[in-house]
Amino acid sequence: MAAPLLIVVLAAGQGTRMRSDMPKVLHKIAGRSMLGHVLDVVRALTPERLALVVGPEMEDVAAEGQAAAPVVETFIQAERRGTADAVLAAAGVLAAHKGDVLVLYGDTPLITAATLKQMHDALDQGAGVAVLGFEAADPTGYGRLLTDANGEVVAIREHADASDAERQIRLCNSGVMAFRVRDLAGLLRRVGTDNAKGELYLTDAIELARSDGYAARVVVCDEEEVLGVNDRTQLAAAEAIWQRRRRHEAMLGGATLVAPETVWLSYDTVIGRDVLIEPNVVIGAGVTIEDGVTLHANCYMAGHDEKRRDTVIIRRGAVVGPYARMRPGADIGPDVHIGNFVEVKNATIEAGAKANHFAYMGDARVGPGANIGAGTIFCNYDGFEKHHTDVGAGVFIGSNSALVAPVKIGDGAYVAAGSTITKDVPADALGLARAPQETREGWAAKYRARRQRRK
Ligand code: UD1
Ligand code: CA
Repeated sequence: MAAPLLIVVLAAGQGTRMRSDMPKVLHKIAGRSMLGHVLDVVRALTPERLALVVGPEMEDVAAEGQAAAPVVETFIQAERRGTADAVLAAAGVLAAHKGDVLVLYGDTPLITAATLKQMHDALDQGAGVAVLGFEAADPTGYGRLLTDANGEVVAIREHADASDAERQIRLCNSGVMAFRVRDLAGLLRRVGTDNAKGELYLTDAIELARSDGYAARVVVCDEEEVLGVNDRTQLAAAEAIWQRRRRHEAMLGGATLVAPETVWLSYDTVIGRDVLIEPNVVIGAGVTIEDGVTLHANCYMAGHDEKRRDTVIIRRGAVVGPYARMRPGADIGPDVHIGNFVEVKNATIEAGAKANHFAYMGDARVGPGANIGAGTIFCNYDGFEKHHTDVGAGVFIGSNSALVAPVKIGDGAYVAAGSTITKDVPADALGLARAPQETREGWAAKYRARRQRRK
């Protein structure tokens, strides 16, 4: 049985290299903050307690932590005095905790639960301290892991403090560390500031633990997994890795991605089997794609936007696109066809309905089997409020119609092309609201003759 686990996530750094008014860990990958990703991963380890260390005036980071993991306990590091000091900001919970401690950073969003479990396992196998290391393609800037003949970690040397020989080492510290020591707070209080930066380094805990008789082990992972985000180029690199992983999973799950590298998914995208996704499809937060759905090229869909936090669901066998936009609250029923340049927002389109070309359907229900003609607009907004449109089963809306909400079109009704409908149309009726056509026999011939005489 593994000992109960306390996880400490450090996020007190400002992230100045992001050049942002927003704290670094709130920047998003696949639609979710980096902190959200990290907290989501650590929850898979079912920690007994979860602590988050933030800087002063980082209420928004604390709030994001709370939202992502309601059990989180937030601590404020008053001054940015180094990673050991940051862990000590959570001294209250450290003192109370009887068990193992895992420390990781909020700006390392690609870490996996499997790797963190290996870290915890290393403690079960007798280590007092475990360090997550990786072979860096370019180790510049990282702390180097100094190991002995048995592969035990002897010390971690920060880049700035390392000798030329030590700088040749490519095995680096990811920042993730696990501890099974009797009094971690006491041990960290013994850390000094005798280093190039004058900071309290968490990494010094290795030497201190060893001098107390504990074994220090290294667990090695892929560099990709511990990519730290310091600036926006690294943010984009992390996004690219995340997207590649998620597309891979979607394909293994039975979805065909014709050009996977052009499809963008979100942290919570759900994709079924036998889904076909053509190139350049962008899927934002809150979207579910059921089995057998086809998304033609160049669609954009998102359940959350600047106005609404909702969901988008594309149900079994529906066909969407090319060039369709599904906004929050779009519920596309089974076997529905949504064609090019069609926008759907907060609307339920029921089984088998079709809107194949150029249309806006907002704040509405469209009944099963209805046909929405090209150029139909649901006029849902009067400049102050949104109103509902209800289109019944089997309704036929002729092209270029405007349905001015609130309005109801009864089952089986027809709306004549080019109508502006402001009153309800009863079931099985025809709604016609356009200037009647007038035909003047011979008018064009006479008109031409008159103009030619004048020349
Ligand atoms: C740290 C490690 C280094 C490792 C590297 C991996 C130390 C001393 N060095 O260096 O061995 O190779 O990460 O990326 O630990 N933080 C606080 N409070 C502080 C200082 C830092 O919360 O007072 C947080 C930061 O928000 C960040 C993390 O700790 O999430 C790492 O801090 P940073 O200053 O970036 O450490 P590095 O110099 O990169
Ligand atoms: Ca860093």
